[in-house]
Amino acid sequence: MNKQAITSSPINNLSAGRWSPRAFLDKPVEPEKLIGMFEAARWSPSGGNEQPWSFIVGVNRDETWQKIFKCLNEGNQEWNKHVPLLIIAVGNKISSWDGNISPVFQYDTGQAVAHMSLEAMNQGIYVHQMGGFSGDKACELFGIPDTHEPLTVISGGYIGEPDSLSEKLKQRELQPRSRKELSQFVFSGKFGESSPIINL
Ligand SMILES: Cc1cc2nc3c(=O)[nH]c(=O)nc-3n(C[C@H](O)[C@H](O)[C@H](O)COP(=O)(O)O)c2cc1C
Repeated sequence: MNKQAITSSPINNLSAGRWSPRAFLDKPVEPEKLIGMFEAARWSPSGGNEQPWSFIVGVNRDETWQKIFKCLNEGNQEWNKHVPLLIIAVGNKISSWDGNISPVFQYDTGQAVAHMSLEAMNQGIYVHQMGGFSGDKACELFGIPDTHEPLTVISGGYIGEPDSLSEKLKQRELQPRSRKELSQFVFSGKFGESSPIINL
């Protein structure tokens, strides 16, 4: 299924083609593609080059996959039963510069996931990020120290058929994608004032 973004100006195909499906094929992702996704995350920029991210990866219902699945909330478990990839993105809270909580560890980790998402698209793999999971359970099941924080779970694989979902989720899958207009978030002069560059 294709849910290409309708953009106000031409953009690259990976960004325009990316979206977050719930229907995935029960087909393993080739290890080299998975490594490519982590490699893209690896080369993401980060504050002070601290690279605060780490990833716990479960594949094809292996033991790690089962543990990550247990961390998902009920709503997310419903459509993740057959997904081949489940990954927890974990951020290191502590800055090695001064030992304090980094103000940007979440930003950096999210950005690494964004790079991973686009490389996934480049490999023909779709990912779907989720905040609906228990971080406490993830810490307990994987022994994540309190210097680190599980930030999202990411599911991924080859895109499947909306018919494989419940009626309610199928409707969501088929819904058109929507976004704010550029004028609502690109400002100049003063915060909240739409930038004139939008009307160029
Ligand atoms: C940090 C984050 C948390 C999200 N949490 C969930 C979630 O728990 N369950 C879910 O189905 N989708 C979740 N999503 C997916 C968003 O709903 C989705 O990205 C958004 O609606 C835009 O749709 P698109 O990615 O298809 O463009 C999350 C996305 C992000 C980035």
